[in-house]
Amino acid sequence: MSSRIKVTNEQKPCYDIVIEDSFDRLEQELDGIVKGNRKIGVIADENTCIYYDNECKPLLEKKASAVHLIVIKSGEENKTLDTVSFIYKSLIEKHFDRRDLLIALGGGVIGDMTGFTAATYLRGIDYIQIPTTLLSQVDSSIGGKTGVDFLAYKNMVGAFYMPKLVYMNLSTLKTLPVRQFFSGMAEVLKYGLIRDESFYSWIISQMDAILEHETTVLEEMIYRSCLIKREIVERDPKELGERALLNFGHTIGHAIEKLKDFQLLHGECVALGSVAAAYLSYLRKYITAEEYYEIRDMFVAFSLPVSVDTIRAEDIISVTKSDKKMDGDQIKFILLKDLGNAMIDTTVSVQEMYQAMEQIIYKEEDYYA
Ligand code: GLY
Repeated sequence: MSSRIKVTNEQKPCYDIVIEDSFDRLEQELDGIVKGNRKIGVIADENTCIYYDNECKPLLEKKASAVHLIVIKSGEENKTLDTVSFIYKSLIEKHFDRRDLLIALGGGVIGDMTGFTAATYLRGIDYIQIPTTLLSQVDSSIGGKTGVDFLAYKNMVGAFYMPKLVYMNLSTLKTLPVRQFFSGMAEVLKYGLIRDESFYSWIISQMDAILEHETTVLEEMIYRSCLIKREIVERDPKELGERALLNFGHTIGHAIEKLKDFQLLHGECVALGSVAAAYLSYLRKYITAEEYYEIRDMFVAFSLPVSVDTIRAEDIISVTKSDKKMDGDQIKFILLKDLGNAMIDTTVSVQEMYQAMEQIIYKEEDYYA
């Protein structure tokens, strides 16, 4: 398989998303990106550096005067300014200058931090994304959102900074832990729900094949997800309007992520937040009860949580109010006007929020009922 999606920024060609099943084309794709005899810094974690020695390094060495691997600790809890400082120090020690290149080899945490380092080191150096998880392939590697968490607030410090290339090798999914794969499915389902009902129905019809990791089905699923993400970020790169639709499930999801001390994966929290947002959409009579339950069942089918324990509704609401998904002092929700059609809403009342929390906060009596 081999696909290419061209992404523009402010109507100008900006970067390509290249979808492959190996790293074989990487060297060729770097033509024109690595200029002259430059250095390359590869940022990876202890899981993704397995792709470095035998697969990426030999290809990159053909393009650069030197290739350096910088290994950082995996996990959202390490997406901090301290880790970025560690990367800055490594780059300074190795004399990286503005014409050198950084590569993010990993999932969303690596991509966000490498992008932020690239945006700020020497006021900006080039970087490319090599996303190795489903979530980073379909979402976080595309669109130039970079940043770190700060004081446990998600992505509170960051920059919009576009990569020069997004190169995905789908064979990396073969070794991805299943929990990580399902976490990415939350973002895939999101695209269907917010933008494309036919994609949503297709996911339902292909559920068994997706669960079986059938190659051609995964390829189509990832390609279609990338097309939807491309379309939205091209129209609204800085999230002044419609890009906020991509935050479906994230208003509540981010609060749960924080309250659970980042013990749940991002997609797992997005699933919980999506169920709450779908319920709010049902309360507003935008979608039917059947549609709400069908959405909930979809997350269950992909082993994603639809209820969470040891969290209080009032804590979720209070953390939500301090998240950056606010519009002035109104909490910004993404609701479903219909399946495949989302809207921004800043009028959800505290009472409605409590009703939605009831749906996702696990109660023992429900279990024994
Ligand atoms: N992940 C949401 C966005 O890129 O806007």
